[in-house]
Amino acid sequence: MEIKKICVLGAGLMGSGIAQVSAEAGYEVTMRDIEDRFVQGGLNIIKKNYERAISKGKMSKEQADSVLSRVKGTLDMAEAVKGAAVVIEAVIENMDLKKQVYKELDQLCAQDTILATNTSGLSITEIASMTKRPEKVIGMHFFNPVPVMKLIEIIKGQATSEETFQVIKALAEKLGKTSITVNEAPGFAVNRILVPMINEAIFVLQEGIASAEDIDKGMVLGANHPIGPLALADLVGLDTLLMVQDNLYKELGDSKYRPCPLLRKMVRAGHLGRKTGKGFYDYSK
Ligand code: 3HC
Repeated sequence: MEIKKICVLGAGLMGSGIAQVSAEAGYEVTMRDIEDRFVQGGLNIIKKNYERAISKGKMSKEQADSVLSRVKGTLDMAEAVKGAAVVIEAVIENMDLKKQVYKELDQLCAQDTILATNTSGLSITEIASMTKRPEKVIGMHFFNPVPVMKLIEIIKGQATSEETFQVIKALAEKLGKTSITVNEAPGFAVNRILVPMINEAIFVLQEGIASAEDIDKGMVLGANHPIGPLALADLVGLDTLLMVQDNLYKELGDSKYRPCPLLRKMVRAGHLGRKTGKGFYDYSK
């Protein structure tokens, strides 16, 4: 299957990163969101990354312009998917919303279009059940920040075909990433391990065992993590982490997965991390 165009749904942190790496690999990309300010926000994230790369002398302006010319933003779903061999969906982590999106996608996309979801841990099988092409629905889980992180988890749902799997595995390589294959399970492999670790760090903070700075310093210097778990929480977004942790608890039914009350409280307060300027650390200055 020859892929020329990729449609990315959602222009947030993940969607814009996926659009960027896809354009860098030479694909035509349409990035779609529901409001123009979101589309512009996504395009700005990519532009800022290139401004930084240019200022560091890692890229020329011509190279940046050439990649950017391959990314088109739109609000129109039909236009976005037209001619796309693969749709990579990166809308927010809400099953009801995803189901609505897949119903619409199934109607608008060409019959052989593959629908890949960047869900952080929701059921691929349940998402696929909204379509008449469950064999063409697959998980393609990127990591934040997408341009930097090397991994893609590829997750097969109950009906995902071997052919779909092979196309997405080859695409992951073309995007310059390394893939691992995961059987469908809540949180897949990485978030099943990583998100409870971050949740536990929030418990350690809540219980007054150590300060946020010391928890992070401890994990950086004592476990060789690139950044501490609370700084990572702020990078990923506290709302996303809570959704992943809530889903692990709901699906696995084991109290060890219960979300830390402090995480929930911060999400209710709107302190979602870097994207809102405040999380475990203050980014407003
Ligand atoms: N977008 C693009 N590039 C970025 C970036 C971003 N948001 N942030 C950093 N970079 C680039 C920088 O430009 C720099 O590039 P260069 O080496 O070519 O100059 C390089 O990354 C290193 O950046 P910095 O020197 O500014 O900072 P660090 O050395 O601290 O690296 C980091 C930043 C790569 C984010 C590092 O802190 C890290 O690896 N953190 C852990 C990230 C992680 O664990 N991600 C997984 C989250 S879980 C997830 O995404 C799953 C989801 O489902 C929840």
